[in-house]
Parts: sequence; structure tokens; C-alpha cells
Amino acid sequence: QGILTYDPGFMSTASCSSNITYIDGDAGLLYYRGYPIEQLAEHSDFLEVAYLLIHGDLPNAEQKEKFVNTVTRHTLLHDLMSNFYRGFRRDAHPMAVMVGTVGAMSAFYRDSSDSFDAKQRQVAAYRLLAKVPTIAAWSYKYNVGLPFMYPQNRFNYAENFLYMMFATPAEDYEPNPILARALDRIFVLHADHEQNASSSTVRVVGSSGANPFACVAAGIASLWGPLHGGANEATLTMLEEIGDASRIGEYIRRAKDKTDSFRLMGFGHRVYKNMDPRAAIMRQTCHEVLNELGLHDDPLFKLALELEKIALEDDYFVEKKLYPNVDFYSGIVMRAMGIPNSMFTAIFALARTAGWVAQWMEMVSSVEQRIARPRQLYTGPVRRDFVPMEQRT
Ligand code: CMC
Repeated sequence: QGILTYDPGFMSTASCSSNITYIDGDAGLLYYRGYPIEQLAEHSDFLEVAYLLIHGDLPNAEQKEKFVNTVTRHTLLHDLMSNFYRGFRRDAHPMAVMVGTVGAMSAFYRDSSDSFDAKQRQVAAYRLLAKVPTIAAWSYKYNVGLPFMYPQNRFNYAENFLYMMFATPAEDYEPNPILARALDRIFVLHADHEQNASSSTVRVVGSSGANPFACVAAGIASLWGPLHGGANEATLTMLEEIGDASRIGEYIRRAKDKTDSFRLMGFGHRVYKNMDPRAAIMRQTCHEVLNELGLHDDPLFKLALELEKIALEDDYFVEKKLYPNVDFYSGIVMRAMGIPNSMFTAIFALARTAGWVAQWMEMVSSVEQRIARPRQLYTGPVRRDFVPMEQRT
């Protein structure tokens, strides 16, 4: 059997080698293909970052134009996919709809589902990048009972998402460019994060040769959990529940109490033992968006700032090196834009699709790649003989 190492939660196991994303958790650094996240958030945009993650370098002007055109031209869904939505209950969570609908792409786009064919891989990656925002926005429209809005080629990626979310056939809608820019920055910050649970899931599923749509659907399922991407929705729910700064102490006490399962949502990270650099950018974006909307006195933002301050001065959080993570402020920004809590994780998923496809492509084209097949420490009964029903107690 050889020697097994036991590492639940993969605390110290490198599952692959990758040249996509670098994190230094102690220093609070995050680089995509060598570029600091702060520089990309400031100077780049999401599609350029997606190109960088997938192809390894920033595109030149011609490459960028071609890439943006290709993604823009693939945003429509196969018309029959709209029927697929109608099988869900109206109140289905958008993430439930996304797991199902992205998985269903395997049936609609079979000409790009062979993971062993390099050309098909690239078509699938572009299709996913282009269509997941449409799928996400339509899951919201289905929830609220409004008609699906078709993507518009005249808008950029983030504007188009806002359009599909908020436009109706009844009136003209022009996305606010400042809010679209802020949303694009949220996409950039969430685009990749090396071997997190959902990206590892995509790799594990893809390691068997499964098609890319099935792999990304599995990534969405993994992201949904409140300890991962679901934390943005859970953070907002928590802040609404706390409601007032006078109740922060009570929630901090609960977070420290080992007999209480409550955790401070949006705090802590497996890798960062310092400020999550994405949280710092998100806090700044929060200021900008609230100012733009005339909401500088937003009570939830003030509550979040106060909660952060109190937690960062508390011995428990200091000793355990628990800092705000990306999900702490993102919900406040999205809520201010009019995006409902139930869509927060769906937006995380559409942004992370860039990282998932980049990691999946890296994995399937790697010579090191083998099927993911962890071992276990068996702790069940030793061999015993079958007992006929009449002799069982
Ligand atoms: N509130 C209170 N205590 C916490 C928290 C928290 N948010 N996070 C960690 N701890 C404690 C935990 O109880 C444990 O204490 P002890 O050593 O006494 O048992 C210690 O800190 C280490 O925590 P852990 O659960 O062993 O650490 P982990 O690396 O397995 O978990 C985490 C990381 C992100 C799941 C965890 O910090 C957490 O549950 N945070 C809240 C959920 C959250 O905000 N998730 C978003 C993560 S960032 C976005 C993403 O990439 O998905």
C-alpha cells in the first residue's frame, strides 16, 4: 500500500502545480500570472483578466479586440435552454438553477465537450465565459417573474450583465457606467484564487475526462456553500440580523464561543493570515459606489466598518489571525446596486468561471495530469460474516 499521508481538508497537500495564481497568505499578496491584483483592479478589466488567466499573458490591442468580440458574440443561449428554466420552482435559488443550467450546457453544446481536443477546449472555455452571465441573469428574471432579456452586443461585459438583470421590455435602460465599472472590478477580484474548494472540484471532476460544462457545474455546486462563495450572501444576512452597532458585542461573543456554531461571516481564510488584499480593494469600491449613489450614510456599511474595527481589536481574532475576506464588503456593494442577496454567489460564480476554465485547461493539457484519486484511512469494522435477517437483533 505504501505510506499514506493523512491530511483532511488538504491543509498541507499541493494537489497540482500551476502557473496561474500566486498567493502569499502571510504577506496578503495575490497575483494573477505575476500581476498584483491591485494593479489589475485599477488598470485592467474583467475580459482582459480572463484572457490573462486563460492564455498566460495580457493581450495586445488586436488580441483583446478579437477576444472581446468572440466572447460578446457567444453570449446568447441556445433558444431551447429557456424551456429548461421553466422546470424549476419560481422561488428556486439562483445557484440551484445555475448548477442545473450550466450542467445542461453539456447537452446543448456537444460539439465543444470533448476535453481531449484542444480546439474544442477553447471553444468551450469561451462559451462558458460568454454564457454564464446570461444564465445567471435569467435565473434572477425567472425568480421575479419578469421576461428574460437578451444580451446586447453594444454593451461591455459588466454593462450587459446589469442590462440583463434590470432592463425590461417596457422601458429604456442604460447601465450606469460607474456601477458597471465597480461590478467589473468585483468580477476581476473574484476571477481566480488558486486551489480553493470550487477550483479543486473543477480539477477533480475534469481529471476523469468529464466535459467542461459538467466540470464548471460541479464548481458552482462547491462554491455555493456558506464557507466558500456563499459567504457573501451569509455576511449580508448576518449584518441585517445584527442590525445595530449596540449588538456587535453579542455576535463577537457568539463567534468566540466554541459551543455555538456561529462564525463571523466574511472573516477568516485558509490561506490569508493577514488582510485579504481583495477585501481592502472592495472596501474602497464600497466607498465609491455608495458615494455615487448618494448612500454614504448607508447603515449597513457603517455597521460593517464598526464590526471590522471591533473584531480586529479582539484578542481571539488577533491570535487566530482572522481578517476580513473578499466576501465581507462585496455584498454591501452589490446590495447598493440593487442586486438581491440571493444573486451574490451567482455573481461570484460568473466571475470565477474565468479561473475555473483557465485551471481546467491547464490541467487537461498538463503532462503531469492523472485522475484525482485520494486514498483514505479506513476506520470501519474488520471483516465479519453476513448475518441472516432472522438472527439479527
Ligand atoms: N469566526 C469565528 N471563528 C473563526 C472564524 C470565523 N469567521 N474563522 C475561523 N475561526 C476559528 C475556528 O473556529 C478555528 O478555531 P479553533 O482553532 O479554536 O478551532 C480557527 O479559527 C481556525 O479555523 P478553521 O475553520 O480551522 O480554518 P479553515 O482554514 O479550515 O477555514 C474558513 C477557513 C474561511 C472556512 C473559515 O475562516 C470560516 O468559516 N470563515 C467564515 C466563512 C467565510 O467568510 N468564508 C469565505 C472565505 S473567502 C471567499 C472564498 O474564497 O470562498
